[in-house]
Amino acid sequence: MVLKDWRSLQLLCLLEAISLLPCAEALLCYEATASAFRAVSLHNWKWLLLRSMVCNQREGCEETIVFIETGTRKGILSFKGCSSAFSYPPQITYLVSPPGVSIASYSRVCRSYLCNNLTNLEPFVRLKASQPISTLPSGKSCPTCVGKHDEECLPSFVTTENCPFSASTCHSSTLQFQAGNLNTTFLIMGCARESRKLLSDFQHIGSIRVTEVINILDKSSAVGAGHCSRGPSWSALLCLLRLFRH
Ligand SMILES: *[C@@H]1O[C@H](CO)[C@@H](O)[C@H](O)[C@H]1NC(C)=O
Ligand SMILES: *[C@@H]1O[C@H](CO)[C@@H](O)[C@H](O)[C@H]1NC(C)=O
Repeated sequence: MVLKDWRSLQLLCLLEAISLLPCAEALLCYEATASAFRAVSLHNWKWLLLRSMVCNQREGCEETIVFIETGTRKGILSFKGCSSAFSYPPQITYLVSPPGVSIASYSRVCRSYLCNNLTNLEPFVRLKASQPISTLPSGKSCPTCVGKHDEECLPSFVTTENCPFSASTCHSSTLQFQAGNLNTTFLIMGCARESRKLLSDFQHIGSIRVTEVINILDKSSAVGAGHCSRGPSWSALLCLLRLFRH
């Protein structure tokens, strides 16, 4: 009899522990990473969210997506998982704005059940739609690609594309993005406004850790003239990103 009561007490405790765990202490978040450079299109991207993870106490769910465009080439890198950062609403902005090589990011941290659930690239479609289209061509053209140096950016797959007027410096750098299971090293080549690191102001995008090394193309392209416009949304994001560094 005593044994039976002990058993039911144990069972009760177990049930209570199970019922308390997800709601009071730990959050369930989608877990996913992506790095895609082939056949990337803003409209046909469909993300299958198959895995989820239980976060540590007080962590939230993060989703950070980086969309890269250079000429006709596109790339996507992203991270979904747990984050210790404070919650913040979706932030979508250009880290490097067009014309020329552009890098846009979407990032949020939320604290409700499986809330990092974006499965498409709609935020980027809206961002692009809000951007003026610059069509003025320049006489210059640059080798263009985004992807792995032994795949999409093999010399035979690099194309030469015409530069827009205000971005006529040839750029090439190697980037590494790391967060959780995401660990991708890739190349960006194309027309840029100036010859310097694209992401020198960003060590992190959300919790994706960024490192960039400039590749030397040729000495003649080392002199750049452009200028970078830094609007209010840019500085807001920079502040936000600073919050993350720990
Ligand atoms: C994503 O999560 C939010 C709540 O966090 C919910 O309102 C919304 O319906 C979800 N969207 C999808 C596509 O599941
Ligand atoms: C990331 O990949 C590089 C090689 O591509 C490797 O040297 C490095 O150790 C990896 N880092 C992590 C954290 O897995």
